[in-house]
Amino acid sequence: MAKTLQKEILSAKAQNLEKNNNEAFANRIRKKTASIRRRAALRVMRCLTPKLVVEVTDSLAYVSRTPRPFTLHLKQEFGDKALIGVEIGFGFGFNAESLFEELNIEQLYCVDPFLMKRYFDGDTLDQQVKTFIDQDKTRFFDLKNNLRVVFVQLPSAEAFKELPRNLDFVYIDGNHGHHHVLTDLRNAFCHVKRGGIVGGHDFIRQCEVIPAVFDFALEIGQAPTIQMPDFWFKRKK
Ligand SMILES: C[S@@+](CC[C@H](N)C(=O)[O-])C[C@H]1O[C@@H](n2cnc3c(N)ncnc32)[C@H](O)[C@@H]1O
Repeated sequence: MAKTLQKEILSAKAQNLEKNNNEAFANRIRKKTASIRRRAALRVMRCLTPKLVVEVTDSLAYVSRTPRPFTLHLKQEFGDKALIGVEIGFGFGFNAESLFEELNIEQLYCVDPFLMKRYFDGDTLDQQVKTFIDQDKTRFFDLKNNLRVVFVQLPSAEAFKELPRNLDFVYIDGNHGHHHVLTDLRNAFCHVKRGGIVGGHDFIRQCEVIPAVFDFALEIGQAPTIQMPDFWFKRKK
């Protein structure tokens, strides 16, 4: 009797595992095909309506570089003060560009294991990713030769071991999984000075940022300020 029960439990577990693996696989395929579909659609549009494509691409680039609520808040809070900050998840640098436009940045640490290679939001790192070299930096707007930028090509958990602990702000826009966001928040809070701001992007339903932010709020006993799609906490002590 006990053996049958054990067998049933094991078989249910196996089925669950299979279902989870299939779902993960299906999600990967969905993501991949979506990007292929987008690229194909863009190619077709480029032939049919080249002017519209230029307009849409320009608008997208404009929106990507528009200062976010977090940046505007830093501006309000710190004014012209020279700031030392970190962006977790540099991507292609659009937000970093706007941080430079809006604030008096003394030093910006840009953390991303895949600097400008591709977006990544999984749990295991792709070992194939090439190392970011100085030549790559020159592909990037006016950060070229910009001594105020330090590129840290590491996952955030590793990067924090090397980052200074006198930061004015940390902006989190890296891996949006619950565990990653929560770990980033914990690490960031230890790295900003009193009065420093820790916040991030994508406080939206489609990822796990919201639950991670609320878990962290409970941990530190402090409510976040939310201005969609950003959120932030001020370190009081
Ligand atoms: C949404 S993009 C960032 C966009 C950028 N902040 C902007 O607004 O222009 C997310 C980035 O996080 C990076 N990322 C993924 N996992 C990470 C990790 N563990 N640590 C740091 N960055 C990570 C990805 O490579 C990707 O470039």
